[in-house]
Amino acid sequence: MGATGGPPEEIVICRDREDLGDQAARSFVRLAQEAVSLRGRFSAALAGGATPRALYRSLVSAAFAEKISWKSVHLFWGDERAVPPGHPDSNYHLANETLISHVPIPPQNVHRMRGERSDLQAAADEYEKTLHDFFGPSDPGWPSFDLVLLGIGSDGHTASLFPGSPVLKETVRWVAAPYVEKLNAVRLTLTLPALNHARRVIFLAAGKEKRSIIRDVLSDDSPSTDLPARMVQPRKGARLFFLDQDAAALLGKDLR
Ligand code: 6PG
Repeated sequence: MGATGGPPEEIVICRDREDLGDQAARSFVRLAQEAVSLRGRFSAALAGGATPRALYRSLVSAAFAEKISWKSVHLFWGDERAVPPGHPDSNYHLANETLISHVPIPPQNVHRMRGERSDLQAAADEYEKTLHDFFGPSDPGWPSFDLVLLGIGSDGHTASLFPGSPVLKETVRWVAAPYVEKLNAVRLTLTLPALNHARRVIFLAAGKEKRSIIRDVLSDDSPSTDLPARMVQPRKGARLFFLDQDAAALLGKDLR
């Protein structure tokens, strides 16, 4: 039983960001190989923010890139900012610069959220259709990503699901365009039920500034149960956390 009463979680404490990238890349490769051999394709929703950079760098290294059948990989995003794809703040931009442009993935297998649209609700609707078209009328009618990669903000947000946001109560939509008060911006994000129907969820967190929130998200006796990162509880399978030493510094011995 996981610390938060949900499915068990696995915590991998890494030496540093580079080690985190390599260890997460090893999991990414294993999940990709399993999915392609079982289902002929691998669907992964990428995380935003800066931490996944270490994973993307590892994935393009010879040690890992050649072990993935990129023609069978489909990339999606967990969230996106309201910016064009070439903007430095774009989550697609980071992945394209550090991963996509370095591997032989067919362009049609890269399914980005169109944050550049002036009407972000229409962009959310459009992405929801993209997911429905890809996953088909799968039972029970939710996207079953083989892998969802997520970061964790120091306030406990994940994807663009922020504490106290009404979108945390969404039970029907797969993709939403919430206004994020803290950022005074609208974002595009997968909803909690869409995240929770993934086959596997991997969280990546590094840096001293994450140690308190990692303790709150993972500890059994944490007072804050309304942290979005705690609310990601995939229906099946464990949650996997890749943490560097700094981010894991406040975890109790039972979790290390
Ligand atoms: C985003 C991300 C967000 C991110 C966390 C952690 O678009 O910003 O989806 O949820 O994962 O803020 O970001 P860092 O990895 O940069 O700490």
